[in-house]
Amino acid sequence: MKMRAAVLEGFGEPLAVQDVELAEPRAGEVLVRLHACGVCHTDLYTASGADPSGYAPTVLGHEGAGVVEAVGPDVAELAPGDHVVTLFSPQCRECVHCLDPRTNLCLAIREEQNKGHLPDGTTRISRDGEEIRSFMGCSTFAEYTVMPEIALAKVSPEAPFEHACLFACGLSTGLGAAINTATVQPGSTCAVFGAGMVGLGAVAGCRLQGAERIICVDLSPERLELARGQGATDLLEGGEGAVERILEMTDGFGADYTFEATGNVAVMRQAVEAARMGWGLCTVAGVAGRGETLDVVPRLLITGRRIAGSSFGGVKGRDQVPVLVDRYLAGEIDLDPFVSHRITLDEVNRGFELMEAQDGIRSVIEF
Ligand SMILES: NC(=O)c1ccc[n+]([C@@H]2O[C@H](COP(=O)([O-])OP(=O)(O)OC[C@H]3O[C@@H](n4cnc5c(N)ncnc54)[C@H](O)[C@@H]3O)[C@@H](O)[C@H]2O)c1
Ligand SMILES: [Zn+2]
Ligand SMILES: [Zn+2]
Repeated sequence: MKMRAAVLEGFGEPLAVQDVELAEPRAGEVLVRLHACGVCHTDLYTASGADPSGYAPTVLGHEGAGVVEAVGPDVAELAPGDHVVTLFSPQCRECVHCLDPRTNLCLAIREEQNKGHLPDGTTRISRDGEEIRSFMGCSTFAEYTVMPEIALAKVSPEAPFEHACLFACGLSTGLGAAINTATVQPGSTCAVFGAGMVGLGAVAGCRLQGAERIICVDLSPERLELARGQGATDLLEGGEGAVERILEMTDGFGADYTFEATGNVAVMRQAVEAARMGWGLCTVAGVAGRGETLDVVPRLLITGRRIAGSSFGGVKGRDQVPVLVDRYLAGEIDLDPFVSHRITLDEVNRGFELMEAQDGIRSVIEF
């Protein structure tokens, strides 16, 4: 079938929206008609050429929500009409990691996904016979996508698509960092560095876990106000003195849980230093630049601080994204402030510009 899609033709170039060909779903695959898709830093990172593992031509986009249109052979749990959220982090439910509660890093399709292929080593998108690769296994800057069943979470049809798509990436990452990775205990003090989609999700996650105090640190006063809306009790301007301020606010000890959601290694270090001696846990969710390292004084660890990393918030997508969506539908999370701009697929490059200008949290493409 023919469909409209935003193609990255070459690094550093604007995406070109055009007609491409999409093949039928094969075994284990599903055809999804997209209704909404968030525009994320990771898409821009690849488009700019900064990501050394990036490839082109490809259809970008990985924060999709839509409806199952058709299924290929051997698809057991999805049927036409189901509402789904796309998962760049799949869940096969069979590999050694999927069977272990300690991680969400499914091993089933990593290699092919990193190469821009579907699990069978090919791609469904093409143009005049030329293959166009799949991005993060999703390629959701398009009217339709074909994805493996194991990379789709079936969610409540009551969730509006523009909100459901937020769960495909940063929001679940932040919520999961607090709920799964750190498992914040009721009554705790938390400090969240960064108030973008991931940090705001972490603030909300700390609140849902019953944290008593949530200090949010960011450079932007507007973003700190959004953090207050998600449950932050104390707002702090980021920069040099942030650690000292957090220590002052916590009787000199630091926070029980800290979260880093900026991708800046200097801020990661601050998040470690702001964690409490004895048991403070620092959860790193930000993605640092290639080759950058985290500089930490080992004495901080000997005296009881711990550091954990979190990919997609430790969320096992098919099992847990539907649960997070239900919690949102039950009124536990307010997502309206996160959708700052609604754009069309043809305006996708404007979505990138808005993100670069830090204008709002998410631009969402509506189809
Ligand atoms: N682990 C994962 O699976 C995963 C998933 C999605 C995104 N990420 C990563 O998480 C990070 C955050 O993503 P996002 O979408 O929220 O990004 P974002 O750019 O929207 O937010 C980052 C925030 O950090 C703030 N910031 C910058 N410097 C700061 C400082 N010195 N002190 C305090 N705050 C500072 C910025 O003002 C901004 O509000 C990125 O590195 C992204 O790549 C990780
Ligand atoms: Zn994303
Ligand atoms: Zn698996």
